[in-house]
Amino acid sequence: MVDFTLTDEQIALREMAHDFAEKEIRPVAWEFDKDGTWPAAILEKAWELGLMNSHIPEEYGGPGVSYLEGCLIEEELSWGCSGIATSIGANGLATAPLALAGSEELKAQYLGMLTEAPKFAAFCLTEPDAGSDVSGMRTTATRKGDKWVINGSKCFITNGGYADFFTVYAKTDKEKGHRGISAFIVPKDDTVTVDKKEDKLGQRASNTATITFNDTEIPLGNLIGEENKGFKIAMMTLDRTRPGVAAMATGIARAAFEFATSYSKERVQFGVPIAMHQGIQFMIADMATKVHLSRLAAWQSAVLLDQGKRNTIESSHAKRYAADSAMEVTTDAVQVYGGYGFIKDYPVEKLMRDAKIMQLYEGTSQIQRLVIARETLLPRRIEEPTAV
Ligand code: CAA
Repeated sequence: MVDFTLTDEQIALREMAHDFAEKEIRPVAWEFDKDGTWPAAILEKAWELGLMNSHIPEEYGGPGVSYLEGCLIEEELSWGCSGIATSIGANGLATAPLALAGSEELKAQYLGMLTEAPKFAAFCLTEPDAGSDVSGMRTTATRKGDKWVINGSKCFITNGGYADFFTVYAKTDKEKGHRGISAFIVPKDDTVTVDKKEDKLGQRASNTATITFNDTEIPLGNLIGEENKGFKIAMMTLDRTRPGVAAMATGIARAAFEFATSYSKERVQFGVPIAMHQGIQFMIADMATKVHLSRLAAWQSAVLLDQGKRNTIESSHAKRYAADSAMEVTTDAVQVYGGYGFIKDYPVEKLMRDAKIMQLYEGTSQIQRLVIARETLLPRRIEEPTAV
């Protein structure tokens, strides 16, 4: 049966997330965008309500929502402000590898840490010379007695400046390319430095930093899963988080669509509201279609995960389509506002700036197309979604 009807609990969850976005995020979103400040009080409230760490299973103190429910939360929070939503959601990305492949001890310690107090984790994959090409990373992890020693720099790290621990990918065998990468949990200590906070075009309320590990020592048990299986863990993580990114893009697009629709009914030109002009109506119609299809694609790619199925191509379809649509819808929203859309007194230019990152982070739109092309032309047989 194909049925996207939400249960009463799911509707209530979505309403709770919407209410939070409307009351706690929206009223201050443009201020946080202007100043680029860390929204500490909002994050703490989101943590208290269980909107942060929503994927963490109940046995580790989280609400353990499904991937579909995660999408409901992400869309609403991003409708409020996708920068603040990124800060709220980043623990989910950082802990997905742990949930997928970590030992019981690691899960109990680090998932438990996040649910016991409003703390942060950061996902450290990207490096200055290894963005889309993950296997080109240079960070190393070397075994020394009963420790791993981590050295290297990671950039564009969401929540990096506030993280209590990091999920770090590092080369454990430099000769083996993607088969020589492992994943680790690295707690913050004095050897971990926050080198740079980025001054960004959009999503300015989220913290993005460069993090350097300088002979950082961690216990051998902080290896996530098996040695040299880190690349696969990273790919499987992104399969699990891209539906949520697609939902975030849907939230941004929906916000822009709503602003543009109501403005088009108020703004009078040639003696009638501009919504009466077919040129505007067609733009509004295309925006509505893009929001609708983005949501469906996000939900479908999430439901596959909830059914225990592999969703690599579907999560790339969803992430690519929703991100590109968010860019188009927000650009059109600025167009509907005309010259006013270009100035900061009106809400839509922020949304256009925020939308841009959706085409970049968690795999660019070009990388999603690469995945889609490979999955279409050379479908891989990765049968078990949980096999790492
Ligand atoms: N699930 C399981 N295994 C997978 C997989 C998947 N979805 N995709 C690939 N693999 C496996 C392959 O089967 C292959 O396995 P073998 O070793 O057995 O052969 C292995 O991984 C290598 O696969 P590829 O040959 O496809 O690897 P590649 O080097 O060509 O890279 C890529 C593929 C799709 C380009 C990948 O590197 C990629 O996704 N790049 C984008 C990275 C990305 O999204 N970065 C974003 C960083 S996170 C972020 O932005 C967060 C933030 O804080 C803002």
